[in-house]
Amino acid sequence: MRIGSLTLASNLFLSPLAGYTNLPFRLVVREIGGLGLATTDLVNARSLLEKRDKALKLIETCPADRPLAVQLFGSVAEEMRDAAIYLESVGIASVDINMGCPVRKVCKVGGGSAMMTELDKTANLVKGMVDAVKIPVTAKMRLGWDDRNITAPDLARALEDVGVAAIFVHGRTREQGFGGTVNLAGIRSVVQAVKSIPVIGNGDVTTPQAAKKMFEDTGCAGVSIGRGAFYDPWIFKRTVHFLGKGRSEKCEGRDRPSHFSLLTSELLPEPPFAERIRVLCRHLDLMVEVFGEDLGCRMFRKVAPWYSKRFGPVNEFNKRVVHVSTKAQFHEVLQNYLRWREQFLDENGELKAKFQPPPLVASFMQDEPAAAQRQQIPVPKGPVEVW
Ligand SMILES: Cc1cc2nc3c(=O)[nH]c(=O)nc-3n(C[C@H](O)[C@H](O)[C@H](O)COP(=O)(O)O)c2cc1C
Repeated sequence: MRIGSLTLASNLFLSPLAGYTNLPFRLVVREIGGLGLATTDLVNARSLLEKRDKALKLIETCPADRPLAVQLFGSVAEEMRDAAIYLESVGIASVDINMGCPVRKVCKVGGGSAMMTELDKTANLVKGMVDAVKIPVTAKMRLGWDDRNITAPDLARALEDVGVAAIFVHGRTREQGFGGTVNLAGIRSVVQAVKSIPVIGNGDVTTPQAAKKMFEDTGCAGVSIGRGAFYDPWIFKRTVHFLGKGRSEKCEGRDRPSHFSLLTSELLPEPPFAERIRVLCRHLDLMVEVFGEDLGCRMFRKVAPWYSKRFGPVNEFNKRVVHVSTKAQFHEVLQNYLRWREQFLDENGELKAKFQPPPLVASFMQDEPAAAQRQQIPVPKGPVEVW
């Protein structure tokens, strides 16, 4: 897959999740494999130009963390342009512009979703950035401000005309927040609106099958995964495998029904528990390396419960892991939990069937009401809980 001058190893992307898609998490995902391009949390263009510690920490990277896109937000054209120039000068592979953030603080200053309401102004700002750098400039948007203002197709076309290299679109409106079902037809309308640049679909992809459905129903060139990657950092590797197999199966048997390529036998199994624990510990090591032991462990308090969602019975772990301040404390909590968990295992050391977590299902692949879907893929609590 190509984005402008950039060639990517796969058509799968890690969506920016402010507070989560930091260097340690990106490295975890990359080590497992399957990812085409990772993006940082959103970074305030002005703070970056002023070299504020927080902004510099957000763009911290290393050779193993490539290729990397930095996501900028801001509404002052000169600042966005200069921030893009700076990012290019320090070796960042591509710059993404946040046009989807519904948070009041970001919209109030004309950034985030507010950019979707002023097409000409936004196109001018983006043109200034595209003209100033050689690296690809991309834009990430929602479908529009609300159901009556689905601006993404027009905006995508306008941005293509000024040289944007790709469009990421979350299939919900700003008004929807994270409620309701991801609108695949809405993503498709963006795909159809552009002439030739890739459109990358996004929203609620939690399984390889869901990624495949998004590709098939929307015609998108890539799929971007946010919360699904936090549940399951293996999702990229499993999706690449699933898509690869799916395609070859289809070619081999033209007379087979098209859903043949969705046979579960093509799915790599979910990782075993021991592998989940290995990666959990690796993630903590990287957090400590990047943020220091105290901050790294405190930040890890909100990371560990994402892994544990697939552990089966987990009260003992979740209750205690939110208090750890050192690596030693974490490992003590983990060892105690592993002993406690033994009561739920069968003679082969596997979780008994009744304790196994239910399969993950994307919102657009189930018939349940929206409220139930939200529970399947919760929006993490924190300063950005209204994303
Ligand atoms: C906690 C959180 C933080 C987010 N931060 C950002 C961000 O910094 N920039 C952005 O463009 N989108 C952000 N998003 C939106 C995601 O990138 C993505 O579009 C959305 O979560 C839907 O994809 P998903 O269902 O795969 O998570 C955030 C979402 C969440 C839940």
